Amino acid sequence: MGKGQDLYKKAKKVIPGGTMLLSKRPEMFLPEQWPAYYKKAKGCYVWDLDDVKYTDMSFMGIGACTLGYADEDVNVAVQNAIENGNMCTLNAPEEVELANLMIELHPWAEMVRYARGGGEAMAVAVRIARAASHKDIILFSGYHGWHDWYLSANLAEDSALDGQLLPGLKPNGVARGMKGTSYPFFYNNKTEFLKLIKDHGNKIGGVVLEAIRNIEPEEGFFDIIMQETKRLGIPLIVDEVSSGFRLNLGGAHMVLKLEPDIAVFAKGISNGYPMGVIIGKREFMDAAQDSFISSTYWTERIGPVAAIATISKMRNKNVQSHLINCGKKIQEGWKSLAVKNNIKIHVSSIYPLSHFDFDESPLILKTLFTQEMLSHGFLATNSYYSCYAHKQEHIDKYLDAVDDVFKIITKAIIKGNAENLLLGPVCQTGFKRLS
Ligand SMILES: Cc1ncc(COP(=O)(O)O)c(C=O)c1O
Repeated sequence: MGKGQDLYKKAKKVIPGGTMLLSKRPEMFLPEQWPAYYKKAKGCYVWDLDDVKYTDMSFMGIGACTLGYADEDVNVAVQNAIENGNMCTLNAPEEVELANLMIELHPWAEMVRYARGGGEAMAVAVRIARAASHKDIILFSGYHGWHDWYLSANLAEDSALDGQLLPGLKPNGVARGMKGTSYPFFYNNKTEFLKLIKDHGNKIGGVVLEAIRNIEPEEGFFDIIMQETKRLGIPLIVDEVSSGFRLNLGGAHMVLKLEPDIAVFAKGISNGYPMGVIIGKREFMDAAQDSFISSTYWTERIGPVAAIATISKMRNKNVQSHLINCGKKIQEGWKSLAVKNNIKIHVSSIYPLSHFDFDESPLILKTLFTQEMLSHGFLATNSYYSCYAHKQEHIDKYLDAVDDVFKIITKAIIKGNAENLLLGPVCQTGFKRLS
């Protein structure tokens, strides 16, 4: 155990839950062994507190750094913003430039608002939808952050959010009076969606879903969503916080032929600097004038500057096709190495956000995989988020290491001793109280 784990132990005494983001908890990767903190991150390399260098073939800043860590071009733009003042009594003109850029890329949208985090940008979108429709109930599918509108679904039924990406999210602290204000449905489940429409029809103020995540939209699913939201005049909000700018230069909804009224972008849009963007049709977005939605640091300059620089680089370098190619090679590599080593895995998700699960003892084997990949010099888990800094050499070295580690796993499966090979506890999944 290195300095990172020592610091994490101290962190848990003063920071409840250890870190502000569930997906960064070392327990989610490799309890008691994960390096936990970084000294430096550049390209796809990460140096931990003991100066050990790793290649990050896992989440790349939990999906934020699609260009790679500390990207030169984005950093130059950000440094310029810092030099010229990140905050001022007057507004940053880049807000208007970014608004026009987002509208150019999404010609169906007419107006834009900003936040910084993905969850808060989603909360802004939901507030706008409720304000515009004058109705309360939100139907949603998938994960959309930590805010009350979303967690209130678990006031109605404790396991309502299970299966919506992160199981076990507790609504403690969400006002009980919000019970019955949001209801989940499963992606692709037309029957479930139509039942909710039937049950709550004229009280529904918004429908929220991701364009795509782990599975492809089935024939007719989006048609039903668009048909019913149009029929009832309900704003359709598409959450592009994770899917946006990965398959194409803009929202994945455009390639998937989903036509939203509002779309929300964050994290991947600004390569590691906080920025959240809510775009939409004038008839709905204009309601933001009649509801108080306002925050000081939503007006700082780095966010829009970083987003403009990130999107410009993506456009110039055709970054999305690189992200897709990398993910495709990784998914094909996982599949062929699993066959070669006689391991059963299930591969899913779009190429830039690739994922696999072991069929047998999934959590134990995932922990063993992470442990052994770490000793090969990789930050790795059962997800791979591609970035522009991942080049062929990283993919080749990574897949060589996966081959080695799959061999260890095969032997462990045959001997039935996978758990004994772990140097610490099995990794966690979902939301849990930490001890
Ligand atoms: C689809 C989706 N929506 C919302 C969020 C929340 O974003 P943030 O963590 O920036 O609040 C995430 C984060 O993973 C996400 O994937």
